[in-house]
Amino acid sequence: VLRDYVTDHLHFILGMHARVAFHRAIASELKEAMERAGTREIVDLCSGAGGPLLAVQKLLRSEMAFPSEVTLTDLNPNESFFREMESAGDGVQARLDPIDALNVPDELRGFRTLFASFHHFRPAAARRILEDAVSKKTGVAVFEWPERTPLFVAVMGLICIAQALVFTPWVRNLSVARLLLTYVLPLGPLVMAWDGTVSVLRTYTVQELREMTKGLDADYAWDIQSIVVKTPLGPMSTTFLIGVPTRPS
Ligand SMILES: C[S@@+](CC[C@H](N)C(=O)[O-])C[C@H]1O[C@@H](n2cnc3c(N)ncnc32)[C@H](O)[C@@H]1O
Repeated sequence: VLRDYVTDHLHFILGMHARVAFHRAIASELKEAMERAGTREIVDLCSGAGGPLLAVQKLLRSEMAFPSEVTLTDLNPNESFFREMESAGDGVQARLDPIDALNVPDELRGFRTLFASFHHFRPAAARRILEDAVSKKTGVAVFEWPERTPLFVAVMGLICIAQALVFTPWVRNLSVARLLLTYVLPLGPLVMAWDGTVSVLRTYTVQELREMTKGLDADYAWDIQSIVVKTPLGPMSTTFLIGVPTRPS
């Protein structure tokens, strides 16, 4: 219940139309990388409730005329969300069985993406995710935000609590249990505050990601950087790592 609470909120917060400039920046990086990798299929790992991916997918297919296909996966699939997205079409499929990002089945071919989830993995495991993509000669893209700065560490908990209190009535899957967990026994906002703060503390920096890719494969082009995108809700900083095989299979 609490995991879905967090991932449904993330989907709402990160998918807001006011963030379209941010979605567009991600979509254009992805499109360019997928064209180089010669694929239109995205295998999204650690999907939760999709975060910003579905907004990105819409832009890819409509505005950018790039008919990508997405497969959502997660170790703990948000089943109701996965079913809803599959039936909505838009080139989205979902795997309802648990898919471990550390052990992706061979039949899941496509450009791998991880949104707001790479920090869940400690450095050795995170590197294994990249190694596995490299061993299968598939592209991989990691998007993380916000950056690990003292300011964000200090304020993330408060931002999450405020977002949970303000947005819960508009977030999908509203139920009596969710209202009680927000306004009577506020476990939801507290879990979001904990998750948000720990996530910021664990988010990899550009330098750490560069170290992680050292020696992985000479036949990969790695693009690792931080960008800041202006949105009506304020600037959004994103760190990304994109690896593309220079000789795709
Ligand atoms: C913070 S949520 C991010 C969800 C989504 N990508 C987003 O942008 O909002 C992290 C997700 O990672 C999933 N997860 C954690 N460990 C995993 C693993 N080893 N393999 C696959 N998914 C995992 C969790 O179940 C959770 O849904």
